[in-house]
Order: sequence, then structure tokens, then C-alpha cells
Amino acid sequence: MIKTIAVVTPGGDAPGMNPAIRAVVRYAIFRGLKVKGIERGFDGLIHGEIRDMNLKSVSGIINHGGTILKTIRSRDFEKKKNREMAYRQLKRERIDGMIVIGGDGSLKGASVIAKEAKIPVMHVPASIDNDIPCTEETIGFDTAVNTALDAIDKIRDTASSHERIFIVEVMGRDSGFLALEVGLTAGAEIILIPEHKMTMSEVCKKIKDGINRGKMSSIIVVAEGFGKSNEIAAVIERKLKVEVRVTVLGYIQRGGTPTADSRRLACVLGAKAVELLIKGEKNKMVGAVGGKIVATDFDTVLRSNKHINFEDYRLAEKLSK
Ligand code: F6P
Repeated sequence: MIKTIAVVTPGGDAPGMNPAIRAVVRYAIFRGLKVKGIERGFDGLIHGEIRDMNLKSVSGIINHGGTILKTIRSRDFEKKKNREMAYRQLKRERIDGMIVIGGDGSLKGASVIAKEAKIPVMHVPASIDNDIPCTEETIGFDTAVNTALDAIDKIRDTASSHERIFIVEVMGRDSGFLALEVGLTAGAEIILIPEHKMTMSEVCKKIKDGINRGKMSSIIVVAEGFGKSNEIAAVIERKLKVEVRVTVLGYIQRGGTPTADSRRLACVLGAKAVELLIKGEKNKMVGAVGGKIVATDFDTVLRSNKHINFEDYRLAEKLSK
């Protein structure tokens, strides 16, 4: 029977991680477990940066972005001898279950720990990229979408006043989920994502067609994984002889007050992960599918791919004419 669980938030932070930590800690205490917080991700596990968590340790954090447990993108955890150090820390602290809150890198780490340390591990998906399969949404995605939307609404004011083309770069190193959602909801004229290879001639043709229809300003949303925004801007300026400005939204998308949607997901997934551990489930990721909370084996999640919703992509194209 599980008595003590640990919670950790490795990798890039996402708004909603704090409410997720709160949910894990409070639900676990409610169910009679002891909870420990591992600081600075898997690095902190290697070095034994582990502290007791109580009801008070998570008070006043539900509305805060970031993670009170801090995080490091750990390279050290890739080395076997460091991981063995980490597992000795788990034994020393008598940790017999673990909850990892994070993105795809953290999920891989969670699966390695489950196999090597042979303790039950649950993963709670949190990433602004929303690029994790077996869940329709990751914690933090909705907040990042709304942050980007707020910025683009402002940019549109100046774009239309100056009759300029604006390129707005959003995060998404390898995926365009964030760019597509932001592009659709911001009414962007063009959305550039790594999953859909659009040539620069096609981009220019779309802008030109818009100009011919009387559209004097356009917003182009680009996922960082598509290509370099400044180079895209230079090509458009050269080919079409129009003014183009670039805004890279960057890390503002990773911070800020989590939205209701991100907090709700954090509450339900965090609590569910604890409940499943208590029930004897192990090595699964909790996620939201079709309005239900589901748990999927690590191996299945790691083998699966999440696909861009091209219906949304085509709809965004039609609506932006
Ligand atoms: O994984 C989330 C993400 O925001 C990516 O979209 C982005 O490329 C990356 O993190 C940048 O993170 P960092 O600079 O913290 O490594």
C-alpha cells in the first residue's frame, strides 16, 4: 500500500502547474498520504532536493503561473549513474509513488523512472504546446492561447492603422497546435505551422489576393518550428514591396495567471492521478478525452502521435478571406 508520494515538475513550466501541484498535495493528504515535493525537476531528485509538503505549502498558489517547485531542463538525468543516485534518494525518503507534472520530455523521464526504479508513477500532462497524445488538452495550453490572443488583438489595431502585414511568432518548437488555435481564434489571415509546408510563393500569393480584395493589413501567425520569422518577413517585403513587422511573443506565453480552463484541468487531472495511484494503477498518463478523464499506459502514449486538426486549419483559411 502506498504511504508516501512525491510530486515533481520537470522541463518547461506551464501556467497551471501550480494548481496541479496544489491538487496533488491536497488530494493526497485528504486520502491519508504523505507528500514530498522534489525541487528543480529531475536534477533536484538526483541531488536530494526534497521537502515535505502540507496543506499550507500549497496555499495561495492556485492563481499563480510558474511552478513553486522550480524546474530545470535536466541533461544530467540522461546519465545512468545520476539516475541511480536519484533512485537512492527515493529509497532514502521512503517514496513509494510518484507524480510527474510536465510535457513530453517529462513524460519520457517518468516512464524511465517507472521502469528502472520500479515504483508506480503517474504523469499529468502540462505544456503550452499541447503536443502530447492521448489527451485533447494539456494544462497551460488554454492560458497560452489567451495570452497570445490578447497580444494579437492589440497588434491588429496598429496593423490596420498602418495598413501593414504583421508576423506574430508563437511558441511551438516542433508543433503547430498553439499556432493553429491562436490563428483560428485571432482571425489570422495566414497560419504557418511545421505540420503543413506552405511555400513562400504560396504565402505571398495569399497576401496578394487579400490586397486585391481590398485587405490592406494582415496577421500571419507563425509557429516557431515553421521557420525564422525575420526571414519570412524579408521575403514578403522583397517580393510584394509592402511593409512587414515581426513580433515574437516568446516567454510571455509561458507565464501569467492560469485561465479557468487550465486551472480546472489541473484540479481534476492532479486529483485523478493520486486516486489512481492509491487504487494500484501505475505508469499511466491521465488526460481529457471527449469530456472524460482517461488514463493511458506510458508505452501507448509514447508510441502515439497527436495530429493537427486540419478541419480547423481549413476553416481558419475560409474565415479569414
Ligand atoms: O515546450 C514548451 C516550449 O515552450 C516550446 O514551445 C519552446 O520551443 C520551448 O519550450 C522553449 O523552452 P526553453 O527555452 O525553456 O528551453
